[in-house]
Amino acid sequence: MEQGNAETSGRRARIQEVEQELAAMAERRRALEEELAQMRGGAQPGGQGLEEALSMFEQIIESTDDGIMIEDQKGRVSFANMGFVRMAGYESRDQVLDRPWSDFFSLDEEKKIPGRPGMYESLLVTGDRTRIPILITSTSFYFRGEYRGVLSLIKDIAGRKRMEEALARSEKYAAIAQLSLGISHEIKNPLSVMQAHLDLVKSNKTIKNIADEKLNYSFEVMNTQAKRIATTVRSLSNLAHDRPPEMRPLDLTRLLDDVSDMFFPKLKKGGVALDRCYARHDPVAVEADEGKLIQLFTNLFFNALEAMPEGGELRVDARPQPESGEVELAFEDTGPGISADIRKRILDPFFTTKPAGTGMGLAICQRIIEEHHGALEFLDATQGGAHVIVRLPLIQP
Ligand SMILES: Nc1ncnc2c1ncn2[C@@H]1O[C@H](COP(=O)(O)OP(=O)(O)OP(=O)(O)O)[C@@H](O)[C@H]1O
Ligand SMILES: [Mg+2]
Repeated sequence: MEQGNAETSGRRARIQEVEQELAAMAERRRALEEELAQMRGGAQPGGQGLEEALSMFEQIIESTDDGIMIEDQKGRVSFANMGFVRMAGYESRDQVLDRPWSDFFSLDEEKKIPGRPGMYESLLVTGDRTRIPILITSTSFYFRGEYRGVLSLIKDIAGRKRMEEALARSEKYAAIAQLSLGISHEIKNPLSVMQAHLDLVKSNKTIKNIADEKLNYSFEVMNTQAKRIATTVRSLSNLAHDRPPEMRPLDLTRLLDDVSDMFFPKLKKGGVALDRCYARHDPVAVEADEGKLIQLFTNLFFNALEAMPEGGELRVDARPQPESGEVELAFEDTGPGISADIRKRILDPFFTTKPAGTGMGLAICQRIIEEHHGALEFLDATQGGAHVIVRLPLIQP
C-alpha cells in the first residue's frame, strides 16, 4: 500500500514537471511568434514594421520626378527609379536596367559625366536621342559595408535653363534697345538730309540731259542703299520705342486667315502653296495684342517665303493642347531648313544670312512671344525644311 502511494506521488510530480516544461515551451513559442511577427511587419514598440517601412521607402523613391539610379562597378545600371525611366523617355524599368550608363549620358568633352562622386551639370540622352540638361549629384554607394558603385540623383533643369536663357536674352535685349535708340537718333537726321539731296540730284534736268547711264545707275544704288539704312533705323527705333501689349480675347484662326489673305498674292507669285491646316479646327481663343501677333505672323510668313525662292509648300497649323493649356502654332516650310549652327544664333538681334536682311525679324518675334507668355522653338520639319513652333496660352474656359 505504501509502495502504491509512493508511485502515485512520483507520477504526480512528473506530471507537474511536464506541465511546467510545456508552459515554458508555450511561453517560448509565444516569444518566438512575436519576434517573427515583428520581423514580418507586425507591431514594433516605438516604430513601424519592416514591411511597412520598406513600402514607405519605395513610395518615396518612386513618387519623385527626379531620377535616382545606381551604376554598378561594371558601369551598368543596377537600379533606376521610375523618375529616371520616364526622364530618359522609356516606359518600363526593364528598358533601362543592366544597360551601360553611357547609353544615357552625353559624352561631350566639356561636360562632366556620372561615375564620379560630386555635383555637376550634364546632358541626359533620351530614347529618341533628345538631350536634356540635368544636374547630377553622385555619391559612392556602399551596402552592408561593401562598395556597390555610384548612386546618382538626377534633376531635369531644362526649365531652369530656359528661364536663365530668357533672362539673359531680355537683359541683352534691353541693352540693345538702349543702344539702338542712341544710334538711330544719330543716323536718322543726316540720312534724311542725304536722301532728300539724292532725290534732288536725280531729278536734276542737267544730269538727266547728260543721259549718263552710269551716273544714273550710281544714284539708283545710293538711293536703294540709303532706303535700306532707313529701314534698319526704323526697326531699331521701333525696338526701342516698343509699346506694352494691349491684351484682348481673339480668335487665332481668324487672325491667321487675315495674314494668309494678305500674303496670298506674294505666295502665288513665289510659287508657294499654302496649306491652311488651322482652318480644319474650331476657333482658338487666346488673349493677345492683335497688332503684335500680326507682326509676329508676318515675320514668320516672310521668313518661309524667303527660304523658298524657287517655290514650295508652307503649312500653317494651330493645334489647341487643352492638357497643357496652350495652343501650338506650327509654320512648316520646304526650304533648306535651319542648321544647328544657325539655330544657336537665330534669335540674336542683327543675325542674318540674307544679303538684304536686317536680322531683326525673329528677335522681334521672340520679344512679342515673351510678352504673351509663350515660347518659340525650332524643330526639323518632316519634309526637311524649317519647322517653327509658337506656343501661346489658351483662354481657360
Ligand atoms: N524658315 C526659315 N528657313 C530657313 N532659315 C530661316 C528661316 N527663318 C529664319 N531663318 C534664318 O534665320 C535668320 C534670321 O531670321 P530673321 O527673321 O531674324 O532675320 P532675316 O529674315 O534674316 O532678316 P529680316 O527678318 O530682318 O528681314 C535668317 O537670316 C535665316 O538664316
Ligand atoms: Mg526675317
